[in-house]
Amino acid sequence: MSSNQKSAHTIENLYDATDLITQEVLKRYEQTPDPRLKEIMLSLVKHVHSFAKEVKLSSKEWLFLMQYLEETGKWCSPGRNEFMIFSDALGLSMLTVTQDYPRPAHATEATLVGPFLLENAPQFAMGTDISNGAAGTPMYAKGRILDTEGQPIANCVIDVWHSDDRGLYDVQDDFEKSGPWGRAQLTTGANGEYTFWSVLPVDYPIPQDGTAIRMLRATTGRSWRPAHLHFRIQAPGHRQLITHIFDKNSKNLDGDAVFGVRPSLIADFVYHDNGVAPDGKKMDKDFYTLDYDFVMTR
Ligand SMILES: [Fe+2]
Repeated sequence: MSSNQKSAHTIENLYDATDLITQEVLKRYEQTPDPRLKEIMLSLVKHVHSFAKEVKLSSKEWLFLMQYLEETGKWCSPGRNEFMIFSDALGLSMLTVTQDYPRPAHATEATLVGPFLLENAPQFAMGTDISNGAAGTPMYAKGRILDTEGQPIANCVIDVWHSDDRGLYDVQDDFEKSGPWGRAQLTTGANGEYTFWSVLPVDYPIPQDGTAIRMLRATTGRSWRPAHLHFRIQAPGHRQLITHIFDKNSKNLDGDAVFGVRPSLIADFVYHDNGVAPDGKKMDKDFYTLDYDFVMTR
C-alpha cells in the first residue's frame, strides 16, 4: 500500500468513527418518551454534531466553550440573564419571536423580551410618574390598547420598563438599595387608555462586564441598542404581546446589537420646550411626549 493510499484510508476511518458516534447518540435519544422533546433533542444532536464536524472543532476550542459557558452562568442573577443576551446577540431570540408570533394584519408586532423583565413590578395608577428617581429628561407617554376592530380593551395589565439617561436599567443599578425605578405595572380602565410619566430612554450598549460583550468585541463589534421602551401587555381574551417602542431619533436603529428593530415599532418621541403637557401639567423644563396605540390579537 502506498503512503497516499494509507493516508486516505486513515481519514476515511476517522469520518466513519465520528458518524458512528452521531448514530449511537441519536439511537439513545430515540428513546425519549415525550414526542416534542424527542423531536427537539434529535434535531439538536444532529445539528450540534454536524456543526462540530463542519468547523472541525478541536478539543482546545471545546474546552474554551465549556469554560465560557461556566463563566456565563456566573454572570446570571435575578434580572440579569447572560445566556439570554447571547441568544439576543446571535439573533436566536428574534428568530424565535418572529416564527412564533407571525404578525396578523393591523396588529402590533412583537419583539424580543430582553434580559431585564421582572415579574411583580410595582403597580402605579394611570398618569403617575413611574421614574421613581431615575435620572433623565421627563417623558409623558400615552396611548390605547385596542383589538383588531379598533375597540378599546379594559383590564389590560401593562408592564413597562426602560433605561435612565445613563443607559442603565434599575437591575444594573444598586437594586438592593434603590429598588425598582423606570419600571411599572399599569391596568387599563374601560377606555383602554394608558398614561404615565417617566424619563426619556436613551441608546445603550449591552452590559459591558459579562461574557456576551466579549464575544461581540471579538466578532461584529456592534453592541449598541437604539433607545426604546419595553412593553408587555396582557389583555383579557387576547394573546400576550411583548414588544418595544423605539425612538425614531436614535442613532442605532440600523445596527441594533440584538436585531430587535421593526419599522412598525419606531415612533416619534416629540420634543417640547417648557410649557403645558398633554395632561395639563405645567412643565418648567423641556420634556418629550409619546403617543402610541397597541393592537392586540386573539
Ligand atoms: Fe432594553
